[in-house]
Amino acid sequence: MSKTALPLSEVYRLLEPGPVVLLTTLWEGRSNVMTMSWHSMMEFEPPLVGCVISDRNHSFGLLRMSNECAINIPTVQMADKVVACGNSSGANLDKFVAFHLTPEPARQISAPLIAECYASLECRVADTGMVERYCLFVLEVIAAWIDPAVRNPQTIHHLGRGKFMVAGETITLQSNMP
Ligand SMILES: Cc1cc2nc3c(=O)[nH]c(=O)nc-3n(C[C@H](O)[C@H](O)[C@H](O)COP(=O)(O)O)c2cc1C
Repeated sequence: MSKTALPLSEVYRLLEPGPVVLLTTLWEGRSNVMTMSWHSMMEFEPPLVGCVISDRNHSFGLLRMSNECAINIPTVQMADKVVACGNSSGANLDKFVAFHLTPEPARQISAPLIAECYASLECRVADTGMVERYCLFVLEVIAAWIDPAVRNPQTIHHLGRGKFMVAGETITLQSNMP
């Protein structure tokens, strides 16, 4: 292969994890939704997820105060709403109303789940040690919900500059990972 230099500012486009998710929060009776793609699994059980949530986002303060959130996983059918939630601030907008998202009560946290998403993870903040420096929250998933009717969820994966990859074919290979 013949490779050329890639500007360092473009590196994130190669390593973007997926899927793009919708993070829901609630504090003092006001809920919010934020689009997020910078997340990573950190432990199998209890499931730990590292999430970078910018302190310029309204969601940062809500998560800081409540220490709870939900990670909701949308499919490509909701792509327009996902982009809309990532380009607007909950500081002056009720995104549930504006983008026709249906809040559902969670079992163990106060923040709502999103009915239109095929899976939702209820999370508590487990570690804030790297929040100040990197805006990195370590979340513990304490309850998880999935729609079993959705067989091959077409999740979307951010490639930067308005491009997304849609999850496609699933293949089975030998692996030591569970
Ligand atoms: C595809 C996509 C992925 C994004 N991923 C993140 C992310 O991982 N972390 C983050 O802080 N902001 C991310 N954003 C930006 C926030 O979603 C955006 O700033 C949003 O307006 C914040 O909403 P809020 O102010 O209501 O919390 C992403 C936006 C898009 C469109």
